[in-house]
Amino acid sequence: MNTRALFLLALAGFTGGALSQTAVVIDDFKSPDTNAQGNYHGCDAGDGITCTWGDGSLTITSSDTDYSFYSQFTNGCQDVTSWESQYVHVKFSGSPNFSIALQQNNPGCKAEVAPYPETWDIVYAADYSDGSDIYIPISHFNINKSRAVGLAFKAFRDAGVETKFSLIEIATGLPGGRSVPEKKPTGPLYFACTRPNSIAFGIDDGVPELADRMMQIIDEAGIKVTFFTVGNALDDPSQPFTKLYQDAVKKGHQVALHSYTHPKIEGLPTVSAIDDEFKKSRESTLRNLGVDSKYFRAPYGTDGALTRQRLLANVPGAKVINWSIDIQDWVFLENDPNNGQTAAAASDIAKGGNLFVAHYLYNTTVNQFKDFIALAKGTGKTIMRIDQCLEDPEAPPL
Ligand SMILES: *[C@@H]1O[C@H](CO)[C@@H](O)[C@H](O)[C@H]1NC(C)=O
Ligand SMILES: *[C@@H]1O[C@H](CO)[C@@H](O)[C@H](O)[C@H]1NC(C)=O
Ligand SMILES: *[C@@H]1O[C@H](CO)[C@@H](O)[C@H](O)[C@H]1NC(C)=O
Ligand SMILES: *[C@@H]1O[C@H](CO)[C@@H](O)[C@H](O)[C@H]1NC(C)=O
Ligand SMILES: [Zn+2]
Repeated sequence: MNTRALFLLALAGFTGGALSQTAVVIDDFKSPDTNAQGNYHGCDAGDGITCTWGDGSLTITSSDTDYSFYSQFTNGCQDVTSWESQYVHVKFSGSPNFSIALQQNNPGCKAEVAPYPETWDIVYAADYSDGSDIYIPISHFNINKSRAVGLAFKAFRDAGVETKFSLIEIATGLPGGRSVPEKKPTGPLYFACTRPNSIAFGIDDGVPELADRMMQIIDEAGIKVTFFTVGNALDDPSQPFTKLYQDAVKKGHQVALHSYTHPKIEGLPTVSAIDDEFKKSRESTLRNLGVDSKYFRAPYGTDGALTRQRLLANVPGAKVINWSIDIQDWVFLENDPNNGQTAAAASDIAKGGNLFVAHYLYNTTVNQFKDFIALAKGTGKTIMRIDQCLEDPEAPPL
């Protein structure tokens, strides 16, 4: 670069002059392989999403809120703190009923380390759209912006409706006459324990026949865990879950929220149906177990802006708990002769994972539960409840 160019750049930087007003184009959808920054972009693989590339556009049709499109700023960490007062600008047509997330990388900025991404914050595109433009203040994404990875478009709620994208850029300002709404609180999203040397089991729904055996294995190991409970199962007197979890609470385990009817919450047709899942889940856990929990794990791990916002509106101070050790019971089901679930746990632990997701739905899982606990102990970390591993001041002492 010559001296004159350097001088102009410096001038623009100091005065906020013409050069610094230029938007940074992230994606122009000209190639299916990379975005305008030369980085990865693409859709999740699977039947739930169809992505059709045009010349300078991408058309997405989705039937399942679990599928996403990603467009990355970088393959590692990009420091976007200088964008704090700028905007994500998306040009689109079709339905704005989807979510936009800004993803944060882990401290080492490595995709092969768990968790990756470390977290993200999310907004509802319809709240920010007007005509064919979406403008979102970067400040509405509560993540560590010195470690941004990129954007994700998630949870397309209008099944079968096409949404066509033609531009993603970082705009330095809003066009005249345009305003943006207030940020709606979304709370934090955790994939990992934060307390040094901690590891935790988050155990979701299960079947009555396996409950006692699993509980016995946990108690014999002398560990404390977190159970995410489904509200309507607690309310059903023909099921053993209320008694099971009442005993668990007495023994010092944590109980937390896993919805009322176990749907893909972000895919529910109305906001009031979403609200009901949170309200009734909270009430059921309080009424049956005497616990007013602020910890929530999403059924199927389904994520979306409405889920995050309505959770916070119904359960103030709530935290969303994901995972960084997946035993993949949903892959092996009742057929796991080679202990694949233990191998899956070992693999995630080797990547740095420290927060389990497990269910007690299959014999194969319960048969390997002692092995999961042995693996966790083998890390040298202390096994504890999720509230303890997230350094919650209201958690009981270890
Ligand atoms: C987006 O959602 C709103 C509110 O649920 C609905 O009225 C509208 O029809 C949806 N838009 C499309 C294009 O489906
Ligand atoms: C954000 O990430 C940077 C780089 O890893 C780190 O130095 C900083 O402490 C983090 N900030 C917060 C608030 O955690
Ligand atoms: C949880 O993690 C899984 C796997 O990384 C991801 O697909 C899902 O969207 C996440 N869900 C939430 C609620 O963060
Ligand atoms: C687990 O195995 C036992 C005995 O092998 C069987 O009776 C039971 O139905 C199985 N439970 C489940 C949930 O598959
Ligand atoms: Zn579940």
